[in-house]
Amino acid sequence: MDSIKIEGGARLEGVIDISPAKNAVLPLMTAALLARGVSKLTRVPDLADVRTLGKLLANLGAEVERDGEGLVIDTSSVDGWDAPYDLVKTMRASVLVLGPLVGRYGKARVSLPGGCAIGARPIDQHLSGLEKLGAKVTLEHGYVDVEAQRLTGARFVFDVVTVTGTENILMAACLAEGTTIIENAAREPEVEDLARCLVSMGAKIEGIGTAILTIEGVTELAPYEYEPVGDRIETGTYMVAAAITGGELTLKGARLEHLDAVTEKLMQSGTEIISLDNGDVVVKGGDHSKSVDMRTSPYPGFPTDMQAQFMALMAVSQGVSVINESIFENRYMHVAELIRMGADIRLEGHTATVLGVPALSGANVMATDLRASAALVLAGLAASGATVVGRVYHLDRGYERLEEKLSAVGARISRISAT
Ligand code: EPU
Repeated sequence: MDSIKIEGGARLEGVIDISPAKNAVLPLMTAALLARGVSKLTRVPDLADVRTLGKLLANLGAEVERDGEGLVIDTSSVDGWDAPYDLVKTMRASVLVLGPLVGRYGKARVSLPGGCAIGARPIDQHLSGLEKLGAKVTLEHGYVDVEAQRLTGARFVFDVVTVTGTENILMAACLAEGTTIIENAAREPEVEDLARCLVSMGAKIEGIGTAILTIEGVTELAPYEYEPVGDRIETGTYMVAAAITGGELTLKGARLEHLDAVTEKLMQSGTEIISLDNGDVVVKGGDHSKSVDMRTSPYPGFPTDMQAQFMALMAVSQGVSVINESIFENRYMHVAELIRMGADIRLEGHTATVLGVPALSGANVMATDLRASAALVLAGLAASGATVVGRVYHLDRGYERLEEKLSAVGARISRISAT
């Protein structure tokens, strides 16, 4: 298993290109199943999760091929509806085949994802939504079987705001008969991006970007050619990299309008963030960042996917920061590791109280979740001495060429390949 080694203390300066968003690309890939023929995503990051979903689509009979920066998905010979345990267990987002398969083929068999490092993460809302549209759902031997002749439009109110749940019901509803109204829908930019792509395929969707989506079902959708939105979480992660090293980074392809809550908190802590006319974002870390409280919530609130990285910054800020994680019950794997690097953090239930320390010291650390791993890299950038972050495959799931991008702006970071 590879590791990443960081010699802390370097001030970062330079330009970083932001990749398309992993969490936009994954539902867009499964949306290709809604149409017969060749769909193309013009820019797709080279990530382990993209490759895993590619395998899953290939397992259904699709042809998935890289085309330069893009990805081509030919669904002409799809003849399967099975998402097996081996693939779903490595990536929960595999459940995103559920909506498209039931919507287009009237059946899907998907392994129940089970718990994961950050929490229990059930899919009950995905299933209730599909039942509301007329599907029959059966759970057996760890698999969920969903069947319907043709789905019929209905009004469905989500009990909780769920990103992939909204995406699944949205995709299924596009090919249902009649009108579907989804209330309490997730408003994340990636959901909006999916809706825009579906419209380009011929779907009739109103309320895009709001909590109420109205979908008029159509009988057929056409393949798409689409460019996914830039990654707001990658952007936020590099914003913290600038802040935590007192550096200055220009982020190209960042969509600052998707990061209001993060920008607000970083500015309160003393980071300067400037949006240039050409859309680039300049982030300048202050000399001493100040502690700020934060609570995660669904978009447009502070994203849970930025909680760990923000905590790394708070660990070396002046004062006390109270951080509340309201989305996932167990998303604090980075806490014990940050403490090993000298952070002063008390954890009680969903709340972490972070007493800023003047400096962290490098250590061997590891985490069992993507964003927690990113937080440890950020802490390593600020720490004295060497930090080695193990289990790098978590980072490879969601950050494209992380060590390359960071070393190009002055970080002393390298990958240690397992022998
Ligand atoms: N929930 C339920 N029942 C459901 C669905 C969700 O109780 O049927 C609960 C979850 O347990 C959680 C909350 O609702 O407490 C929100 O979960 P959500 O369904 O929104 O999460 P998700 O769709 O599985 C996506 C992202 C995650 C991101 C969350 C929250 C993708 C592929 N994944 O997951 O991204 O943390 O939304 O914003 O879009 C990451 O990129 O590191 C990552 C984990």
